[in-house]
Amino acid sequence: MTDHLTVVDHPLVQHKLSLMREEGTSTAVFRQLLREISQLLAYEVTRNLPMTTKRITTPMQEMDAPVLAGRKLALVSILRAGNGLLDGMLELIPSARVGFVGLYRDEETLQPVQYYFKVPTELQDRLVIAVDPMLATGNSSVAAIDLLKQAGATDIRFLCLLAAPEGVARMKEAHPDVPIVTAALDSHLNDKGYIVPGLGDAGDRMFGTK
Ligand code: URA
Repeated sequence: MTDHLTVVDHPLVQHKLSLMREEGTSTAVFRQLLREISQLLAYEVTRNLPMTTKRITTPMQEMDAPVLAGRKLALVSILRAGNGLLDGMLELIPSARVGFVGLYRDEETLQPVQYYFKVPTELQDRLVIAVDPMLATGNSSVAAIDLLKQAGATDIRFLCLLAAPEGVARMKEAHPDVPIVTAALDSHLNDKGYIVPGLGDAGDRMFGTK
């Protein structure tokens, strides 16, 4: 993956995203759409994974069949909204290892503070896909990727549903080696750090909280 930003413009992704954006969409439908869209995004973010071949026998003959190379990849959910992308991706990549990064924003310094960090072993040998639906200011994404790099990850991709130009720029500055895959690049952030037009608070919408 060479481009820093990939916007997945597939019609199914765009249609589902529009349904998710609508404020009248229920929690149940929102969650189901997120699961479906996460699988389409997973397809895109794994498009150029390294391959090798394995000798197998079909009912007809032997062949060298293509299989994924290397260690199982790691999906890392940035809590809590990342879990909404994780479930669908795990259906598509069931053998993936899974990690979690929990960050909250210190109300005084406005900086992200880590409260949970648990990731698979041998991170340095795995492709790591960090997932968070909303790339807004980029502060928590940058901090999560800092932590993943400190834990040894060298090959990281970032998957989100919506990105703001501010967050993309911040990520490019801090982590130019981490490609971003998203379903849409929206207009801007409002003064509360929400993406516009966006879809509101992704965590609240998927978990039915307020
Ligand atoms: N997080 C959200 O859930 N929504 C936004 O618009 C920005 C950050």
